[in-house]
Amino acid sequence: MKPLIVINFKAYESATGKGAVALAKAAGEVAKKEKVTIIAAVQAADVYRVSQESEIDVFAQHIDTADYGAHTGATLAETVKAAGAKGTLINHSEKTLELKEIEKAVAKAHFLGLKTIVCVGSASQAKAVAAFTPDYIAIEPPELIGGDISVSRANPAIISDTVKRVRHVSATTDILVGAGVKDKLDVDKALELGAVGVLLASHITQAKVPKEAIMNLLKD
Ligand code: G3P
Repeated sequence: MKPLIVINFKAYESATGKGAVALAKAAGEVAKKEKVTIIAAVQAADVYRVSQESEIDVFAQHIDTADYGAHTGATLAETVKAAGAKGTLINHSEKTLELKEIEKAVAKAHFLGLKTIVCVGSASQAKAVAAFTPDYIAIEPPELIGGDISVSRANPAIISDTVKRVRHVSATTDILVGAGVKDKLDVDKALELGAVGVLLASHITQAKVPKEAIMNLLKD
């Protein structure tokens, strides 16, 4: 099975503005060559630009649950969709929401036809959000984010536990694995434990040659 690869551009300078376009294009080249799906989760302000200028699907990194109206500074699901987003991350550990808000954000995104990736830090939180039937739940232990040791290596049990708990609640939600992911071993281990792909950031956004770093997820 080919892994789904979601690259979270976060707010890294290298993955912002023109850099975001360049990174998405590099990811697009790998996606085409290796016949894999790669998604770019970019800052809201970059959704339009990256979706216009690259071929891969673009997700927003966050949506608020506000509807049209007097909500200065809000990131509306409607607006990211109109800008070209095909989906959104929700509740990343660097942009968390209350459980009720997660439910509302998932429902709203689905109503608008946006795919959803809800990030969680534990298997029990995964079980709780599975009730909202997001398309994906990404298990990312916060203490491993940005580090060198992947969750697949440091805590494989949390992945299998998440897969098991989510399966009991939602048959349509797939699992992604994130935090410290950097190479094919990490990706293979994630798939072996029941996930369908990975969500990663620093090892791509901070790489000297991002295209090679993306390729390293697929080739030994
Ligand atoms: O959303 C991806 C994430 O938080 C993992 O970050 O830098 O450990 O790949 P990183």
